[in-house]
Amino acid sequence: MDVIPLGPGFAAELRGVTLADVACDDAAYAAARAAFEEHSVLVFRDQEVTDELQLAFSRRFGPPEVTKVGSQGEGSHFVILSTIGPDGKVVPADHRLSLRNKANQLWHTDASFKRVPALTSILSARVIPAEGGETEYVSTRLAFERLDAGMREKLENYFAWHDYAYSRSQIAPGLATPEERAALPPQCWRMVWRNPVNGRGAIYLASHAYGVDGMEPAAGKRLIDELMTLATAPGASYLHPWRKGDVVMWDNRATMHRGRPWPAHEARLMVRTTISATEADGVGTMRSPSSQAAE
Ligand code: OGA
Ligand code: MN
Repeated sequence: MDVIPLGPGFAAELRGVTLADVACDDAAYAAARAAFEEHSVLVFRDQEVTDELQLAFSRRFGPPEVTKVGSQGEGSHFVILSTIGPDGKVVPADHRLSLRNKANQLWHTDASFKRVPALTSILSARVIPAEGGETEYVSTRLAFERLDAGMREKLENYFAWHDYAYSRSQIAPGLATPEERAALPPQCWRMVWRNPVNGRGAIYLASHAYGVDGMEPAAGKRLIDELMTLATAPGASYLHPWRKGDVVMWDNRATMHRGRPWPAHEARLMVRTTISATEADGVGTMRSPSSQAAE
């Protein structure tokens, strides 16, 4: 297996290994897992992807999420990101499916608004527009390491509130439905996720984060905005232009990502599997002591 670096200090392509190798072979999984811990974003090219293979590959990394209420793929292990309506035609730009893709164009990490956050997301491209529609990544680990020591220490003991309805409200009021709001109450997470394998910390934030626990709302929002700006500074990102057969997986503990726009009349269909973080991935360190006590 060859590891070819792609981005500014993170993100790599793995060559000489297929999804099936990782799914079936312990040594291939161990090598891919080590690369994942180190590079945060992994690209596999020229794969023959089926839903079953994507899921078998994904399961290697931990328990697959069940898709939440209100998303396409609800109740299954797949999230379908699509702008193709039930009649097979591309939906208009103000359609709920388009607005949901638009919400994915805000910098975020997946599932920080859930009771169990995500270790990794695995995304495969099924229908690709002729231009645009890339996915862009930044390393919140490298962003954390760019902070001064005082700030790093402070953040380790700060906790931010994440709410799905909040990020959706930035796109359109009411984009999060009452069912989604009821199923997804706000969650509070430590603002630094330390990787238990290599000890490196990463800023844990997303478009879902609206406030810092115990901080006056405007000041908390300012701190979040400052950190988001720092993490997404020009030159810090890896932009992935999708080709047929591409599969990309990322570490939701140490990166943020966003979709990039494409011409509204063109179809785009992506399929995502998402793996929940477990104790071994450091999730136990992420709850605030007070919210742990309340449980
Ligand atoms: C995702 C996501 C962005 C895109 O699948 O989690 O944010 O480019 N996707 O589709
Ligand atoms: Mn996402």
